[in-house]
Amino acid sequence: MRYFIPLILVAVLLQSCKTETSSSDSDQRVETLLAKMTIEEKVGQMTQVTIDMILQNDKLDEIDERKLKAAILEKKVGSILNVKGQAYSREKWHEIITRIQDVATKESTSGIPVLYGIDAIHGSNYLTGSVLFPHNIGMAATRNPALVSNAASITAKETRSLGIPWNFDPVLDLGRQPLWSRFEETFGEDVYLVSTMGAAAISAYEGDDLSSPNNVASTMKHFLGYSHPASGKDRTPAYIPNNMLQEFYLVPFRKAVEAGASTVMINSGEVNGVPVHASKYLLTTVLRDQLNFKGVAVSDWEDVIRLHTRHRVADSPKEAVRMAIEAGIDMSMVPLDYSFYDLLLELVKDGTISEERINLSVRRILKLKFDLGLFNNPYPPTQKVLMSNNTTEEAALAATLESLTLLKNQDNILPMKEGAKILLAGPAANNVTALHSSWSYTWQGNDDRAYPSTTLTIKEAFEKELGAENVFSKSTRGFQDVENYTTDWILAAAKGVDCIVLCLGEQAYAEGPGVIDDLTLDENQIQLAEAAIATGKPIILVLVEGRPRIISMIEPDIKGILMAYRPSTMGATAIVQVLTGVYNPNGILPFTYPKKSGDLLTYDHKYSEGVREDVPNVYGNGAYRPQWPFGHGLSYTKFEFAGMKTDKNTYQPTDSIRVSVQIKNSGDKEGKASVELYSQDLYSTITPSFKRLRGFNKVSLKSGNSQEVNFVILASDLAFVNEQGEWVTEAGDFNLLIGNQSVMVRIQ
Ligand code: BGC
Repeated sequence: MRYFIPLILVAVLLQSCKTETSSSDSDQRVETLLAKMTIEEKVGQMTQVTIDMILQNDKLDEIDERKLKAAILEKKVGSILNVKGQAYSREKWHEIITRIQDVATKESTSGIPVLYGIDAIHGSNYLTGSVLFPHNIGMAATRNPALVSNAASITAKETRSLGIPWNFDPVLDLGRQPLWSRFEETFGEDVYLVSTMGAAAISAYEGDDLSSPNNVASTMKHFLGYSHPASGKDRTPAYIPNNMLQEFYLVPFRKAVEAGASTVMINSGEVNGVPVHASKYLLTTVLRDQLNFKGVAVSDWEDVIRLHTRHRVADSPKEAVRMAIEAGIDMSMVPLDYSFYDLLLELVKDGTISEERINLSVRRILKLKFDLGLFNNPYPPTQKVLMSNNTTEEAALAATLESLTLLKNQDNILPMKEGAKILLAGPAANNVTALHSSWSYTWQGNDDRAYPSTTLTIKEAFEKELGAENVFSKSTRGFQDVENYTTDWILAAAKGVDCIVLCLGEQAYAEGPGVIDDLTLDENQIQLAEAAIATGKPIILVLVEGRPRIISMIEPDIKGILMAYRPSTMGATAIVQVLTGVYNPNGILPFTYPKKSGDLLTYDHKYSEGVREDVPNVYGNGAYRPQWPFGHGLSYTKFEFAGMKTDKNTYQPTDSIRVSVQIKNSGDKEGKASVELYSQDLYSTITPSFKRLRGFNKVSLKSGNSQEVNFVILASDLAFVNEQGEWVTEAGDFNLLIGNQSVMVRIQ
């Protein structure tokens, strides 16, 4: 029997609101609907399956009507995600979403629309032909939250225009373990940087009104402690002391809740021996009680099942479902079968899990669907989307240019002289996949055929800028092609050129397939670099990589080094603009670039971690000796700081601290600079960090011009988490640092 409630609701909605309704209205609607739902419908709402479950077995994008009806009418699934293997066109998305919603709203007993979710994590990466933005690691190098916000706004509009209202982004994991294969998806190693960029993305995704065609529900992920597996391997155990979880890993999630994140995705791994999907402490005490998060908690891929199959804390699949629900999961990304639906139904029917508990989750899910306006209109928009590829290209180019980070410029080898002739080599020189990496038209991003034909490789961008006759290269499109590693031709070919540009780094990867055993750059690339160095020509190295691969064995012989991260669609153009001096670089590292694979300190290490005893009984402070420190990045002009001051010398814990500094462009080119404010706690009851980032500001200055840069921080921003797990602002002396300037203040 079909309910009449949804029709009544639709009528009420049509009458009462053209725009979305107030929160209490949607709460009331949720309760009315919930009261009419069967247990089966409730459990179905908590079930999310992947699109494969509704597609024909041998097709990538054709709906199988029988499977679609089994999913929505029999198993009553509330949510579907993903693509099958590849990006779809706008028309295909419209066709798929329309058909899903037709069945959900017109044929199901409950009439509840389906919530479709996707990973659009650096632009609309599952829409064919879309323009992609740099991965977060590059966006963090810009130190410009407005660029993150702009990228998220564009992505929200594009995603929503496909009929998809839910985006599994942003990643708020801290990039403090450089071996980790998802490092490129992070905003780097620092808590404040990740929190600021993450909150900028969330505010832009969600806007003021989730039902607007400009907005999507965001997902703060992956809660909590995913990014620091002890072994560096994806989805393996992390051991993070509670005060560090609170002071470091939790902070970006707290800011994300404040910024309005509607949903959270859970860490697939385990922290301190407890898989997070089974942790009532993390999912209820911390997430709900401490952070006051009210939205939907979705599991990650297959992770409820894995409590039994991988983590081995549940001795049966049914026990795994019980544990996850008891811990606090609202929706299970099952995603390739209906085991969750079947088992949860059994658990409710046999009384192991109460209906009240189920109602708690279903309420959150229905509320999100109401807030997204899906009960008003679950279909893709019919009007044409205004967003053009040109606008997106401009936005992506602006972000990419600000992300590129000049790490080394010995003898001012860069920018290249006009009329330069170059030899271009390396696996990333004539390749698009490494420029984009994970989540680019395919999950792994490593399928050259999936990329738009208009996307330039570095070789093509150089040929456009310098003329094909000035670019000598044998590089081919496949990152692993053997031709890209041969060295016997280099000496002869280098004869007539001014310099050699080497494009090295990493092939595209995502998650598990990106696991490595060695942070050192691959041997065949080191050999290529050595052959180039042996020519005696100046070498410029462009690093196209998602994490800092060790290059200390070749670095001394290389004059210019540019970090490109994963710059995506406009990457090649931007790289060439920086190398040729069309654009003055201003990105700065969002992580510490290590020199040795066994020496992986972050910039905010403890004083005590900085101590070395190279000579017996002689203790120096030289242990933080990376290849390049966090915040490092050069410009073609010169910036100088002077006159740093604070409004007072002594502050109460509740006070604001006003800090100012003068910055001058004393070089001969216009340029941008990231001004960073650090604090240094001299003594505290828990060993203090050597320094911590407290603010940043980006300025643009013409040659010879100066500007005052101001910061306002709270004295309580200098707090830390003590042994009892409480945030405390301890009295004492702190240095505040900007560039080469510092001021000491006292907290009373
Ligand atoms: C990833 C998530 C992603 C999900 C859905 C998982 O494998 O860990 O980040 O959102 O898949 O695609």
